[in-house]
Amino acid sequence: MRQPIIAGNWKMNGSRASIKQLLDGIKAGIGEVKAAEVAVCAPSIYIADVAEQLAGTPVAWGGQNLSTEEKGAFTGEIAASMLLDFGCKYVIVGHSERRTLYGEDDQLVAQKFAVARKAGLTPILCVGETLEEREKGITEDVVARQLNAVIDLEGIEALVDGVIAYEPVWAIGTGKTATPEQAQETHASIRKMMADKDAAVAEKVRIQYGGSMNAANAAELLAMADIDGGLIGGASLKADDFLTICKAAG
Ligand code: PGA
Repeated sequence: MRQPIIAGNWKMNGSRASIKQLLDGIKAGIGEVKAAEVAVCAPSIYIADVAEQLAGTPVAWGGQNLSTEEKGAFTGEIAASMLLDFGCKYVIVGHSERRTLYGEDDQLVAQKFAVARKAGLTPILCVGETLEEREKGITEDVVARQLNAVIDLEGIEALVDGVIAYEPVWAIGTGKTATPEQAQETHASIRKMMADKDAAVAEKVRIQYGGSMNAANAAELLAMADIDGGLIGGASLKADDFLTICKAAG
C-alpha cells in the first residue's frame, strides 16, 4: 500500500505573519489526519520559521527548488545541504513554472532530482503537459520524455526515493481541474511506463495529482486507484481547505 502524500506548494506567497497563522491552523487540525503524510514547501527565506514552527509535529517541510551545485559562486541559489540544514525533507523539482518561466529543461530537472536524492532529500518531480500538447494528443509522450530524463540519468530505481507529481499545466492555478478520469488515465500511464521497466518500482512510487485540487474536488480525485496524493498550490494557503484535502486523503 502506498501512503498518500499531500504537499502544499506555497509558491511566492505569504509573510512571516500569514505563515504563522496558516501553520497554527494546520497544527490545530492535523491530529484529525489519520493516514496521509503531510508536507509544506515554503519560499526559502521562510524555511527557518517553518522549521521552528513545525518541529515536533507530524507535518514535514521542504523547499520549492534547489541548485545542482554543492556550494560556491552561484548568487541567489540554494544548495541541497542548506535545505537539509533547516530540516527539509522534500524539495520540488521541475515545477512547470520553473520550466516555463525560468527555462529549466528536462536535463536540468533530472540533475536537480539526482542532486536532491543523493543529498538525502525526497525530490517531488513535477511532470505534465500544456493545453496545446493535450490537444495535440501527445500528453503521454511529453510526460514520458520528462520522466525518462530522470530514468536515463539515475536509473529507474532512483524513482523510489522520490515522489512524482502529475500536474497538467492547463490546470495549474486556473481553477480548471482535470476530471478524476482524465487524471487517473495519465497516472495509470505513468505507472505503466515505470512498470514496463520495473514492476516493483511502479508499485511503490507515489504519484500526486496537482492542478487546482481543492477542498471540494479532492475526495473524488484521491479516490482514483493511481492517485496517491496531491501537490496543492492555491488551496494550501488556507488552513481549513488544506486540512480538508489532507483528511480526504485519509
Ligand atoms: P494550484 O497549483 O493548486 O494552485 O493549481 C498547483 C501547483 O502548481 O503545484
